[in-house]
Amino acid sequence: MQQELDRLEAAALSELHDVKTISQLEEWRIRYLGKKSALTSALRSLGSQPPEQRRAVGAHANTIKANLQSLLNAKQETLSLSSIDQSIGGASLDVTLPGRSMPIGRLHPITQVIQEICAVFARMGFQVIDGPEVERDYYNFEALNIPHDHPARDMFATLWIDSKEDRDARLLRTHTSPMQIRIMEQHKPPLRFVVPGRTYRYEATDATHDWMFHQVEGLAVDTDITLRDLKETLFEFCRSIFGRDTGVRFRCDYFPFVEPGGEIAIECFQCKGGGCRLCGGTGWLEILGTGMVHPDVLARCGVDPAVYSGFAFGMGVERITILRYGVDDIRHFYSGDFRFLRQF
Ligand code: PHE
Repeated sequence: MQQELDRLEAAALSELHDVKTISQLEEWRIRYLGKKSALTSALRSLGSQPPEQRRAVGAHANTIKANLQSLLNAKQETLSLSSIDQSIGGASLDVTLPGRSMPIGRLHPITQVIQEICAVFARMGFQVIDGPEVERDYYNFEALNIPHDHPARDMFATLWIDSKEDRDARLLRTHTSPMQIRIMEQHKPPLRFVVPGRTYRYEATDATHDWMFHQVEGLAVDTDITLRDLKETLFEFCRSIFGRDTGVRFRCDYFPFVEPGGEIAIECFQCKGGGCRLCGGTGWLEILGTGMVHPDVLARCGVDPAVYSGFAFGMGVERITILRYGVDDIRHFYSGDFRFLRQF
């Protein structure tokens, strides 16, 4: 009996040596340690042994069983470790490689410039709001001193939604100035607002014109607002955007809804005022239209012109972006061409 057990152990050990996989190991376990294994039936048959042998054989069999069991555990461990090794090694994973970079999106250049413009005015105490792109004749024209037969309507080639003969036809706003009216209708002075947004003009497109572009409108209304506030605010804006030592100029211009009206230009940064193609030989680049809000416009919105005064301004965002980055064609912005957009 003892010898039989020793032979069994020797066979088990040599077979264990050849076991290479978890499933082979499971077969081995069933064969040598399972319910129907020789070792189990030897232990079960101890009762039929003569009593003097029973103890010695029993102890021997139990030692073998414990030994096999611990060898089984050890083998299980090494096999499962090596199977992890294999699956890692098989996929040739090099954990020291740097991670793969995920491409990050970016803001459109026009969005970036709008945010920058608004940030400059926010620093000066202006609130930022937006307004409807589909407007009424009243807000886009009428309330801004541009009645039906006023020649200034020609300044704005309009995309009409309803017939332009209708008294209050809908249209795509040609500028952000209608928001001057909406702001004054809804808020009591003191007011300081900037309004970024899309504007539309019925125009043939070329390198400097598109039928859709962005403006930022501004409005400040309070007691004692003068032309000096207008100039200092807008000069400060130009220097913030184009650089501290940029030359800035204010000249008179005409817009029906302001009096006096003006334009602000910066010194041409290509020729430094000498005159070149960029500035059309003038040495100056026009940046925005502006003026003191016309008293009739104030009164129409329920703001007493005897008590309050204000200034307004409007600028084209694409134009500012083009000048700033030397973009040669406005149509690049909405072409969806990543080679262009990735540069910002
Ligand atoms: N709305 C004018 C334009 O589109 C610009 C402007 C705004 C002028 C405010 C004066 C005051 O040209």
